[in-house]
Amino acid sequence: MRGLAGKGVLVSGGTSGIGLAAAARLLGEGCRVFVTGHEQAGLTGALETLAAAAPAEMFAGAVGEVSSPQSVADIVALAEEFTGGIDVLANNAGVAWQEPFLDLTVEAWDRMIAVNVRGMFLMGQAVARLMVANKRRGSIINMASTNGLAAEALYAHYNSSKGAVVQLSRSMAVELGAHGIRVNTICPGYIQTPMNVEIARAAGNPAKALAYARDFIPLGRAGDADEVAAVYAFLASDEASFIHGAELVVDGGQRAVM
Ligand SMILES: NC(=O)c1ccc[n+]([C@@H]2O[C@H](COP(=O)([O-])OP(=O)(O)OC[C@H]3O[C@@H](n4cnc5c(N)ncnc54)[C@H](O)[C@@H]3O)[C@@H](O)[C@H]2O)c1
Repeated sequence: MRGLAGKGVLVSGGTSGIGLAAAARLLGEGCRVFVTGHEQAGLTGALETLAAAAPAEMFAGAVGEVSSPQSVADIVALAEEFTGGIDVLANNAGVAWQEPFLDLTVEAWDRMIAVNVRGMFLMGQAVARLMVANKRRGSIINMASTNGLAAEALYAHYNSSKGAVVQLSRSMAVELGAHGIRVNTICPGYIQTPMNVEIARAAGNPAKALAYARDFIPLGRAGDADEVAAVYAFLASDEASFIHGAELVVDGGQRAVM
């Protein structure tokens, strides 16, 4: 895609699912890519996967915790050094699990908001500060969800966190546009990733989620991580040079259903 080759990319949550697919896609486009995730085993596996996509000198990674300001500062410094300058942030790390609203504990609420909102803010701010200081006209892509645009049962904490990401992104776009930094949001619907496999397993019905996708998504299936990775690549590229402050829905038509 136009304007991607040679760019420095940081993918948070780049060790699994959508983030790992985005890292592989951006490597394929000729970017230098730094990935981060919250545990070592996932990082090791991701680096093995990426080795099939690109030469070893094009990618690296480190374990980090997005809700920790110190950890985010460390990760961003490592990524800046490895890439030679971060041009693109795929601000992708996030968690999801089901909780009935009436049983939702303060601890579960706080954990969700810490990772999905505080983490997105910390990572976005740290990278934006570097881009402004270095006069880099970069692209920041924040990961929300269709759950940030409408509410799904058993996800009050997740719906709220992704609604906050949508507004955080718009706020960043309003302030960072003057620096030439584009900020956009991806809102996927149901995508088949380890996150959703685990949610279905915890619900005790691994087949239920895929049956739901078949019956309620107009395209008749769940999405693939590569189909969201392509949107990361597009929003990071020069093809999206006038797209700013937008939410791009990637849901097989689910949101169009009445
Ligand atoms: N899968 C879907 O259907 C779907 C739909 C809409 C939005 N999303 C969003 O896409 C993003 C990726 O989801 P996925 O399905 O690929 O999930 P996944 O579980 O496969 O990957 C999650 C990634 O985030 C990282 N992560 C989790 N907690 C972290 C923390 N505290 N600190 C640092 N890193 C952490 C993990 O290490 C991993 O790399 C999430 O923000 C999710 O909310 C997913």
